[in-house]
Formats: sequence, structure tokens, C-alpha cells
Amino acid sequence: MIQFILNDKTIQTQLPKGSTVLDFVRYRKQLVGTKVGCREGDCGACTILVGELKNGKLVYQSMTSCITPLINIHGKHVLTIEGINGDSLTPIQTLMVNNNGTQCGFCTPGFIMSFTGFALSEEIVDSKNVVKSIDGNICRCTGYKSIERAADAFCEQLKNKSTTQKIPWLIEKGHLPNYMIDIKFRLVNLNKTELSTSQKLASNAISNNNSTEYFLGGGTDLLVQKPEVINKASVKNKFDDYHLKGIQINNGICKIGASSTVTDLEESPIFNNIFPNLKKHLKLVSSTPIRNMATLAGNFVNASPIGDMTIFFLALDSSIILNKNGNRRTLALKDFFLDYKKLDKSPSEFIEAIQFPIPDKTTHFNFEKVSKRTHLDIASVNSACQISLNQEETISEIHISAGGVGPIPKYLLEASTFLKNKKLSVEVLNDFFKIVNNEVSPISDARGTAEYKRLLLRQLILAHFVEFFGAIEPITKMLKG
Ligand SMILES: Cc1cc2nc3c(=O)[nH]c(=O)nc-3n(C[C@H](O)[C@H](O)[C@H](O)COP(=O)(O)OP(=O)(O)OC[C@H]3O[C@@H](n4cnc5c(N)ncnc54)[C@H](O)[C@@H]3O)c2cc1C
Ligand code: FES
Ligand code: FES
Repeated sequence: MIQFILNDKTIQTQLPKGSTVLDFVRYRKQLVGTKVGCREGDCGACTILVGELKNGKLVYQSMTSCITPLINIHGKHVLTIEGINGDSLTPIQTLMVNNNGTQCGFCTPGFIMSFTGFALSEEIVDSKNVVKSIDGNICRCTGYKSIERAADAFCEQLKNKSTTQKIPWLIEKGHLPNYMIDIKFRLVNLNKTELSTSQKLASNAISNNNSTEYFLGGGTDLLVQKPEVINKASVKNKFDDYHLKGIQINNGICKIGASSTVTDLEESPIFNNIFPNLKKHLKLVSSTPIRNMATLAGNFVNASPIGDMTIFFLALDSSIILNKNGNRRTLALKDFFLDYKKLDKSPSEFIEAIQFPIPDKTTHFNFEKVSKRTHLDIASVNSACQISLNQEETISEIHISAGGVGPIPKYLLEASTFLKNKKLSVEVLNDFFKIVNNEVSPISDARGTAEYKRLLLRQLILAHFVEFFGAIEPITKMLKG
């Protein structure tokens, strides 16, 4: 039995855990303001807000309902466009109208939900952040300038938002309807409600129907690749498993629960402290709603050769903790990938955590990604690099990873080993890039020819070095050559 609050109504349903929130709201509840566009998390027409209690606070995040599994909203509050409507247009709806931000209107509910999600967030209110909140929404007919004008005006309206009394303030100004005042209290009660034995049996019956069982994170891969299968399959919800959440530091090791999302990292003070450029790096990963849903374990197990978080963590020389019926083993992330989509993992083993040694002050990290579109696109080639330097600018330790240049996300072992204890010079870099070229095996596909990808990787690695050393001579010479 899945329980949640949909707008102002409490819902209980025995529908499959892996069925989508989009289908539920549109076809079970006839809330058709949430649109069906791509069904792949790409266009944002189906954007909803999901509110949950985190450390006693009610926190809302945008999600693309077309790939949000029903089980991932259990115990939470779902807001659709109908749920924010009152008797008249909300301020952001009015601004969209007044600034001609809507033509056919198909995309508009998605934009409105993302903007409302921004109003509910704790992000600093400035134009850049308001526009960033719609990075997962595509409009095919209005053009973005008029929507950006609406965003700027919206930003002005939110400038005086109360930070301590956010929801009452948003209600008073007409951004949210009155019933929102009780949602926190209702969620506390909903999460206290114990399911009756018959409900639990019914729930088990759903999950024991099929033999293949899927671990389900945010669903951003599974519900794109095999929605029909997941709809009927037995699934184990890992997204909300609190054992797989949290970021901690212990004895110089940073340990992250495997179900942490990209947004969890982005918002973590620990992570921002370790990686001062974190926000710049993570901005290159998908869109706000997808970052809210995408887990680290999902990124690793998907085993895409261009998985951004995989490339990120490979360069940190990370290891993963795998759990099979309570038996744990630790494995270097670089050894997890055996061949294309082939992993050192049995079907019943799940990833519990990922860990890496915390870099010291002499260590620097950089992540680079090139894709056909700057935002909301997977990489043609991506790369990360962690480097430690001694006082003479000699490399004492280096780890380089590269995606899109072979069947697996690649840790460049030989190239990294070669650079250890060396100082950069044109000769060293020439020899180094010969080793890099031998270590990778890109293929030509829609994202570019093999030759182009080799060249791109070279430039991305040089971009790391510019970040670490500045535009020193050997690097500029290589960039020109
Ligand atoms: C529109 C869109 C844009 C995207 N953009 C990017 C991008 O820019 N960069 C990028 O890297 N990826 C991108 N992705 C891919 C995807 O979002 C990521 O790979 C994401 O990290 C997958 O995580 P998930 O939790 O959603 O995985 P799920 O779909 O839930 O699961 C993926 C796989 O992991 C398994 N799994 C999940 N949790 C565990 C666990 N704890 N232990 C063992 N197995 C587990 C599942 O069984 C499944 O096989 C995008 C996807 C979409 C839809
Ligand atoms: S329908 Fe396009 S993101 Fe959901
Ligand atoms: S107004 Fe038509 S898709 Fe945006």
C-alpha cells in the first residue's frame, strides 16, 4: 500500500510500486494539467513538486513525474498544477501571461511548477537562480526570452520572501493555496500511520508477484529504459532507504550513502567544503529535476561509459561497499566495471555506500564535460582529475578518469602512473598523451567520430592542467599544437 498526499487529498493505492506518478495523476485522478511530452524526463512538461519531511523540515523538490515511480512518493506530498491553483491566477501565472511566456501552453504547467518549486526552495533569490530552476523545461514555441522576462519579474516579487515563515508568506501573497498551511502536520501524521496487517500482506503480494526483482533508485534510468517491465516487476525501493543516505567524514574518509542524489551532494556543506567548484561541476549534470532524482548507485550500476558521477568518483580513487544479505565487501570503483555494462556484482548485491580519502590542501580536483547541448545532455566525452603537487610543482599523486572513450567509464591507470613524480614539460606531455591514446578505444557514433573523441579527451585533460597550473608554457604549447 502506497500512501501520500496529492494536492489536498490523502491517497492510498495498491498500484504497482514501479508505475509512474504521471499515469496516476492523469489517468487515475484525471489531473490532466500535468502534461505528457517525451516520457523520458527530458522536456519537463510533466513536472511536479514532491514535498517530504527532512530533519523535521518540509522540503520540496521538482521531479519529472513521467519517470517518478509511485513508491518514491510514499509518505510524501505531491503538488500538481491543479494543487497550486486558487480562484485566480497565481503571481507567476499572471507574469507568464503578461510577458507572453505562453503560446500553445503545452509546456506552461511544467514551467509554472518549476518556478513554484523555486519559490519554495531555500535558493538565494536572484535572476540567475530563478532561470536555473527551469533548466529542465523545454518550450517548443514561445522562445525563452519572454519566459526569462517573466522570471525576472518573479524574482523581484520574491525578493522580500520570508525565510522563516516561507509557506505562510507564499500563501499570503497568493503563490500557494490556503490548504498548504497544514501539509507539514498532515505529513507527520501520515508517516506515523502504521499500515494494517491486511494492507502489508497486499503490499507483499504486489512485490512477490514476479521472480526478477529490481533495485530502484530514482528511476531515471530504469523508467526510461524499461517502463513496461518496471511497471509489472517486483521492485526494492532504495531511493528512500535511510541506511543508504547521508554524507559523513570519519578518520579522513568521506562516506556517502549510495542513494544520495546529485542534489544531495550539491547541497552538502561537507561536499562543498571539499570541492570549492562543486556547483560549477554539477551544473553540467542533467537538469534540476533529474538531479533531484538521480542517485549515485543508479549512475554506477547503469554503467554508462559516460556516467558523469561515475567519472567524478573514479578520479577520487573511490571504493564502493556492496551488500548481499548483510555480507559486505569493499571494491575499488575502477574494478567494478568489467566490460560494456558488465559489472563485478551479483544480481542480489546492492551498493550501500561509496567512500574516498579526503584530499588534503595540496590536492586539487577538476571535472570537465563536453556535450552537444551545454545543459540537459549526456556527454560526448567527460573527464575528471585529482592531482597532488609538492612544493616544486612536481606531481606527487594523480588520478585521471575519462568517459565516452571506450566500453566502460575508464580510470586511466597507465597514464596516471606515468605522471607520478614528474614535472610538466612538453616532452613529458607528449609521452603522456601517447599513453592516454593507447589506453582508450573510442568508437564513432552519433556523439562524434573516434578521432574527434580522442582529440576532445586531450583538450579536456589540458583543461584540467590549465585549472591546476594556470596557462604555463608546456600546456599552451600543447594546446596550440
Ligand atoms: C533527462 C535525463 C538526463 C540525464 N542526464 C544525465 C547526465 O547529464 N549525466 C549522467 O551521468 N546521467 C544522466 N542521466 C542518467 C541518469 O539520470 C543517471 O544515470 C542516474 O544517476 C541514475 O540513477 P537512478 O537512481 O535514477 O537510477 P535507477 O533508474 O533507479 O537505476 C539504475 C540502475 O541502478 C540499479 N540500482 C539503483 N540503486 C541501486 C543500488 N543501491 N544498488 C544496486 N543497484 C542499484 C537499478 O537496479 C538499475 O539497474 C539522465 C537521465 C535522464 C532521464
Ligand atoms: S513527459 Fe517529458 S519530462 Fe516527462
Ligand atoms: S508554449 Fe508551446 S511548447 Fe511552450
